[in-house]
Amino acid sequence: MTLQIATRRWDAAFDTPTQAEVLTALEDGRLVVLPHLGFALAAEDLALLARAAPDATRKNITLDPASGSLLGTALDDADSARLAMLLDRFGVAAQSLLHRLVPRYAPVLERARTSFRPTEIAGRRYALRQDDRRLHVDAFPTRPMRGRRILRVFSNIAPDRRPRVWRVGEPFPEFAAHFLPRLRPGLPGQGWAMQLLGLTRGRRAPYDFLMLGLHDAAKLDDTYQLSAPTTELSFPAGTTWLCFTDAVLHAAIAGHYALEQTFHVPVTAMRRPEQAPLRVLERLAGRALA
Ligand code: SIN
Ligand code: FE
Repeated sequence: MTLQIATRRWDAAFDTPTQAEVLTALEDGRLVVLPHLGFALAAEDLALLARAAPDATRKNITLDPASGSLLGTALDDADSARLAMLLDRFGVAAQSLLHRLVPRYAPVLERARTSFRPTEIAGRRYALRQDDRRLHVDAFPTRPMRGRRILRVFSNIAPDRRPRVWRVGEPFPEFAAHFLPRLRPGLPGQGWAMQLLGLTRGRRAPYDFLMLGLHDAAKLDDTYQLSAPTTELSFPAGTTWLCFTDAVLHAAIAGHYALEQTFHVPVTAMRRPEQAPLRVLERLAGRALA
C-alpha cells in the first residue's frame, strides 16, 4: 500500500533504483510516504497560518500559482501576500522534490493549485458530495482533465503534532468496474454547453463526466462506504506523502493543518499508461473517452 522513502531534504538527490521504485509505486496506485520530510515553518509562519484560518470554517485556502491569486481567506493585503509566498514556497519545494524523485515526469509536470487545509476534518458537517471523509477518487467539477492525471503532494504541518488519518480503498480497476455500469458519460453537446456557459474551464470530455460520476456515486453510496475494504493510514506531523488521487480511493478522516500541492501529468508521460484511469475506463467502456 505504501512505499517509504527516508529523505529529510526537499532537494535531495535519489538514485536510479529509488526513482524506478517510486514511479512503479505511484503508477500502481500506491502512496509514497516520506516520514522524515517535514516542511519547516518559522513561528511567524505559524502565526500567519493561524490568522489565515481564524474560525475553522474554511476547508481550503488555495493559491493559483499561474495568477498568484489567493482564495478562501479574509486576510489583509500584506498578510495575503505573505501567505501567497508561503504557499508558493511549499509548491516550489514539492515541485523540486518531484523533479528529483520522478524525473520521468519532470519535462511535462504541470504545477496546479497549492492549498492550506487548516480545519480539523473530524466532527465537521459537510454535504455528502463535499465530504472527503467518504471514500472517493478526485475529480474536479470546474476543471476538466480530459484524461490527465492528478498527482498530489501532502505535508502534515500540524503544530500540535496531530496526525492526519486517511482510509485507502480497493484498486481503481475494481472500483471502476463496480460503479461504471450505473454512470452516463454526459449528453451529446453537454461538455461544449457547460464550457460556453462558463461552468467549466475548458471542455469536459466523456472521461470527466465518468470520473465525476465515480466520485459522486461512491460518496453517495452508504453501503459501499460501510462495506468497502479499506486500510487506515496515519501520517504523523512532519510527514509528506504523495499519490495519484484520481486512482487511489481515499477518505481523509481526521487531522488539521496540511499543505497540498496538485500536479497534472499527461497520460503519455507514464511508464505504464495502461494503468491510467482514462485507459482503465476506456477498456471497460469499449471506446475512447478523451
Ligand atoms: C482529499 O483529497 O480527499 C482530502 C485529502 C486531505 O486533505 O488529506
Ligand atoms: Fe480527495
